[in-house]
Amino acid sequence: MCGIVGYIGPREAYPIIIEGLKRLEYRGYDSAGIALFDGTDLKVCKTKGKVVDLENKLHTDITSTGNIGIGHTRWATHGVPNDVNSHPHYSNSGDLVIIHNGIIENYESLRKELISRGYHFDSDTDTEVLVNLIEDVKNKENVKLGQAVQIALNQVVGAYAIAVFDKTRPKEIVIARLGSPLAIGVGKDEFFIASDASPFLEYTKDAIYLEDEEMAIIRLNKDIKVRKIKDDSSVVPYVQTLKMNLDQIEKGGFEHFMLKEIYEQPKAIIDTYRGRLNRQEAIIKMGSVEDNMKKFLNADRIIIVACGTSWHAGLVAEYIFEDLARIPVEVEYASEFRYRNPIITEKDVVIAISQSGETADTLAAIKLAKSKGAFVFGVCNVVGSSIARETDAGAYTHAGPEIGVASTKAFTTQITVLSLIALRLARAKGTISSSDFRHHLLELEMIPKKVEKVLEANEHIKHIAEIYKDVHNFLYLGRGYNFPVALEGALKLKEISYIHAEGYPAAEMKHGPIALIDENMPIVVIATKKGHYEKVVSNIQEIKSRKGKIIGIVTEGDVDVRELADHVIEVPETLESLSPLLTTIPLQLLSYHIAVLLGKNVDQPRNLAKSVTVE
Ligand code: M6R
Repeated sequence: MCGIVGYIGPREAYPIIIEGLKRLEYRGYDSAGIALFDGTDLKVCKTKGKVVDLENKLHTDITSTGNIGIGHTRWATHGVPNDVNSHPHYSNSGDLVIIHNGIIENYESLRKELISRGYHFDSDTDTEVLVNLIEDVKNKENVKLGQAVQIALNQVVGAYAIAVFDKTRPKEIVIARLGSPLAIGVGKDEFFIASDASPFLEYTKDAIYLEDEEMAIIRLNKDIKVRKIKDDSSVVPYVQTLKMNLDQIEKGGFEHFMLKEIYEQPKAIIDTYRGRLNRQEAIIKMGSVEDNMKKFLNADRIIIVACGTSWHAGLVAEYIFEDLARIPVEVEYASEFRYRNPIITEKDVVIAISQSGETADTLAAIKLAKSKGAFVFGVCNVVGSSIARETDAGAYTHAGPEIGVASTKAFTTQITVLSLIALRLARAKGTISSSDFRHHLLELEMIPKKVEKVLEANEHIKHIAEIYKDVHNFLYLGRGYNFPVALEGALKLKEISYIHAEGYPAAEMKHGPIALIDENMPIVVIATKKGHYEKVVSNIQEIKSRKGKIIGIVTEGDVDVRELADHVIEVPETLESLSPLLTTIPLQLLSYHIAVLLGKNVDQPRNLAKSVTVE
């Protein structure tokens, strides 16, 4: 859950690494560091704080020359965020430096052993143990860096993406991965190393993604050598040409990535169904679903595993699959599923949902399901991610890079893909009539325009945010398809504004949360026309009689809720099953504006990281 960048080639390494780290800050941002080799000396600079703090420190600490270097932005696992625990870490001799993303689980025993042999440690990190283990192997076995890394990694239990530099062999960087992503950008006479492709996109579109248990030796002006960590067999690297460009990952005039990504949703949804939804011919074409149709149709049930926002999309999918395709669905937190000895059979289909495709708990749940013989289908955004590779088949959401830590377009595009799958299965099973199917396709095609309409309420929502920004608690209520949206709205508010918020099924309110309601409590109620409208209006009346402040998310032209609520935000009418694609938008904007008004760091909220590659 850290960001790694490296460079080796004819250019000045420093600006490439610093800019690359800024793009990877979504992966962790509690400290940052860099190691540069200027042809004679190896210089390391690191600091608690963000990449910009590193830049400021660098200007006073070291000269930023050299055309080989590695850099790191950290999300702490072992050891508090401070200067000493920041990466890179030196080995005791000062010859080696390492940067690391992941966790070395057996670091305590390795550390004790190394101490008994005279090694000392300055930091509390598992990473410093690893670099000294590599040094120990290198000296004991009298081998070069590549071999030393390989032997050391075979003694390690855990997950890692690492880059190691040895100043006694200053024309190479050794990298390795197990469980954390690592890409190599291949330029002309130069190589870039990064946790994802964004740091090198403006230099090259040619990339190699290391697979788990692979390592690479990257030498100046030489070919890359890729080999297996376990058995030393060599691997022919597959160089792929990336289609994304830099514009897609920059802010494009918006103040924050989150706002940009909220506004990108109409396009992202179109990109998700493009080439899959054909309304004229009334068909849905998804290669990976067609290829595995029998597995889906013969499934006893679908089990959805995911975390956070992706889990909320899974909950929406539960309603859609059961409603349209009449397939029983269970939705599991991946982190619980993996540890509770679940009953899984070969007749289960497991759908894993993940924006990043790197979430450790989801990945572990997939491995567990596969080991029990289930067919595992992935819904991911990041192409070539670990989950995309680990699953038996899958469908990408095509949302484009999501940089803001708070997921927005990931949620709506996941629901779009899952709706397409459910509709396709419903058609194949005959659980939806041909006219209903056509109607769904038409409505889905109209969703992007309707999202644009909701976005027009931005200023109105900002005004509501100004009224409620200082409260300490929020309640979100919804029913049916919009219950998961209530959960998602509450999560968005919590994670970026640090205001406590809870999502509840509206009818559950009377079983407890109603006790919280007084004149200081704002309650966001999703009360669209389709879907238990009268029941939700009754819930609103119950809130009103306890003086709660009501923010209603209503269908255009609504009268009943408008009479009761303190504020309403309108969304266009659509099918109930597609309504989460609209009702979630005002909740994203509300939490965004509250967080901005409170002066919070919207794109990089405290304690969080974009991809959670630790359990
Ligand atoms: O990359 P994933 O979709 O697997 O990530 C899962 C969660 O970590 C993620 O949705 C998290 O909850 C977001 N910060 C929510 O906005």
